[in-house]
Amino acid sequence: MLFNLHFNNINYGDHMKKMLIILVAVMILAGVYIFKDANQNDRHSSLLDEDSFVLIAHRGASAIAPEHTLASYQMAMDMDADFIEIDLQMTKDGVLVAFHDDTVDRTTDGSGKVAEMALADLKKLDAGSWFNAENPDRVKDEYIGIGVPTLEEIFTAFGDRTNYYIETKQPDKNDGMEENLMELLDQYGLLEESLPEGKVIIQSFSADSLKAIHKLDDEIPLIQLTDDLEQEIPSPETFELYREYAVGIGVGYRNADEAYIAAAKEAGLLVHLFVVDELAEGEKLKSWGANGIFTNDIEAVGSLK
Ligand code: G3P
Ligand code: CA
Repeated sequence: MLFNLHFNNINYGDHMKKMLIILVAVMILAGVYIFKDANQNDRHSSLLDEDSFVLIAHRGASAIAPEHTLASYQMAMDMDADFIEIDLQMTKDGVLVAFHDDTVDRTTDGSGKVAEMALADLKKLDAGSWFNAENPDRVKDEYIGIGVPTLEEIFTAFGDRTNYYIETKQPDKNDGMEENLMELLDQYGLLEESLPEGKVIIQSFSADSLKAIHKLDDEIPLIQLTDDLEQEIPSPETFELYREYAVGIGVGYRNADEAYIAAAKEAGLLVHLFVVDELAEGEKLKSWGANGIFTNDIEAVGSLK
């Protein structure tokens, strides 16, 4: 009876049938989307759990694209990395840029110190052709002339669609780096409480830099990087000192055996290891309880997630 509705010789039943089918289809799609989003959020909220294991794209997907470019970050996101790692330097005119080395010589066609260059000069440099020259099997025309990105350009490009693992480089030589960083994070809404835990992690070899950030915002997760040189397992007291401001440590993987990882985790610290590009190595570290690895090659170790 329901579908034999006639009026002015028009059979409205068919319209209702079509409307009903469309309604059911929309409800199914909405349900799938909500379930998927809930799952993703669930994974994102576990990024910093003690049993988490994350893949941190070291300088972006830097095995397959020029490091610290929008291309390497986009590639890392396309490969479902949990974080993009950004090394932060400051130009002479105080602009935060993504750059690893103190000088531009290795990864651009220029020469000189980042800290002694104005942004305008840095922006003239080609930060991609070197990669094509050094990686004939990974050559892409789009890398030719690619520029050094500012942190603001990265946030503009990717917003909260990725997670950021940001290292303050030489903070003692870059006055105001921490304040500038926190201001930019706030300006781009990346400190919002509503965002999943682990949207932004800040790391540094400098405890002072991390403590300065902790003073500005004691909620943002911090990672104390330790130099490769440390052979011994830090004492419980040392771990305790880290734990006063940091949620974890970043360690050169050759340094961190099973006992080292266990001791750090016993102290309530996450352990992220750098830089691991071999799957077998990653599997071993994960079996030892590591909470994640920095990797240049997301493709090679992607199955660890
Ligand atoms: O930030 C973790 C790791 O990247 C530290 O070493 O020299 O690659 O910045 P580096
Ligand atoms: Ca780094």
